[in-house]
Order: sequence, then structure tokens, then C-alpha cells
Amino acid sequence: MPLKKLVAGNWKMHGLSSDLEEIRVIAAASRDYPEVDVALCLPAILIERAARAVPGFAIGGQDVHHAEKGAHTGCTAAAMLLDAGANLTIVGHSERRDAQRESDAEVQAKARAALECGLNLILCVGESLEAREGGAAVQAVMAQLEGSLPQNVEGEAELAIAYEPIWAIGTGKIPTSVEIREMHTAIRHALEERHGVDGGSVRILYGGSVKASNAGEIFSIADVDGALVGGASLKAADFIPIVAAAAAV
Ligand code: PGA
Repeated sequence: MPLKKLVAGNWKMHGLSSDLEEIRVIAAASRDYPEVDVALCLPAILIERAARAVPGFAIGGQDVHHAEKGAHTGCTAAAMLLDAGANLTIVGHSERRDAQRESDAEVQAKARAALECGLNLILCVGESLEAREGGAAVQAVMAQLEGSLPQNVEGEAELAIAYEPIWAIGTGKIPTSVEIREMHTAIRHALEERHGVDGGSVRILYGGSVKASNAGEIFSIADVDGALVGGASLKAADFIPIVAAAAAV
């Protein structure tokens, strides 16, 4: 049985009060596609207002701190996201791994904190251009998964993996269908064999330059269970056709 597709928008550092109307439009239009799970991962400060504006629609964060609480100026705990109305979060996005120098171990601690708190999780992995061109993409992603996926997490929160090649994010470039399939299959096998996770129940999303014009082809690839969408998630006119493409496969 194929898994229900998840199309999650990653708004990154975009979103003001004036964008709540766009969020309302996206949430309302998503209701036409009950066969797809749709979510928007927003800046932490917008979550509470968005969750109030679109009750029942999945709102997420983009990062959490690994600690429950404490002296961590400027950081957001998983319980705070939950309290604000989020039910999921991204961790380990390559922009944070790069700009905030987040290590695999740190991402793993964040992932554990989110899941244990009850937040569904989108854990990002993805190779550099150098690794792709050097023929070491699968190896690089397997190492990241090994280092960032927490073991033996208790609770009901759902895990999803987002495969996001760094060189495909915001560039308009995407891997070939064969390359995407190879990576998603490798991730599924690793989940099952090395991590003891029921790989068949974990959604593996593709992310990096997903848009309406390529979404149908991406969603038709075996083992692609959805997408993490950056730039094309900011406007309903760009995002909803991606949701429709997920519903159509
Ligand atoms: P993009 O970003 O869709 O703008 O390439 C994807 C992401 O970074 O999650």
C-alpha cells in the first residue's frame, strides 16, 4: 500500500501578519485534496497566529532546541512549538547545518527532543554537489542518516525523512528520476536494516526546487512519499498545484 503523500511547505524566513491571508487560502484549498496531508512549516513567531487562523490545518516549526528548557538565549524548545499550536517540525535542514554549523549529533538530539515531545518530525538529509559529482552521494546521505536519526524513541509522533540534495535547493536544478529513486530506496532500506524502523511506515519526501511543473514526475517515482517545498510554498497559486499533483498519482 503506498503511503499517504505529505506535501510540506518550508517558509524559511518569510512570513508576516500580512501573510496570514495567504495561509488561509492555502489551508482552504488543501481541503479539496483529502488524499494528501498538507502542512506549512513557518517561522516560530508566526505559528500561534497561523494555528489560530487555520484550525485543524497542520502548522509546523523549522527547528527546535535539543533541551527541554533552560539558559539558551534566542532558542525555541519543542514544547514551545507544541504549545503555540504546531504539530510538526523540521530539523537538520541543510541551511541550518551550514549557517548554524549544526552537526549530525546536534540534529540527532533535536530530532529526539521533538519526537519525545510529540511533534511529528521531518528530518532532512542531503548531499553536497561535491559528493554528488564524486559519486559519493548515497554514501554521504547514509552517513548523515546514521548520525542524525535518533534510536529507540518512545511515543506516537511520526517520523518523515526529507531527502534534499543541497545543490538542488533554490537552484532550479533537480536530480534525475533515477537518482531520486536510488536515494529514496537506499534510505528506506537503511531505515529497515540499520535503524530497526519499520521503513514501510516512514514517509520519505523529496525536497529541492519542487514546483508545479516537475511535481507530477517526482511524485510518480517509487518510494517518493511527498515533498518538502521551499520557494514554491509561499503562494497558494504555486503551492496548491503541487498538492494537486500529489493527489493525482
Ligand atoms: P526550494 O527549497 O523548494 O526553494 O528549493 C526546499 C527546501 O529548502 O526545503
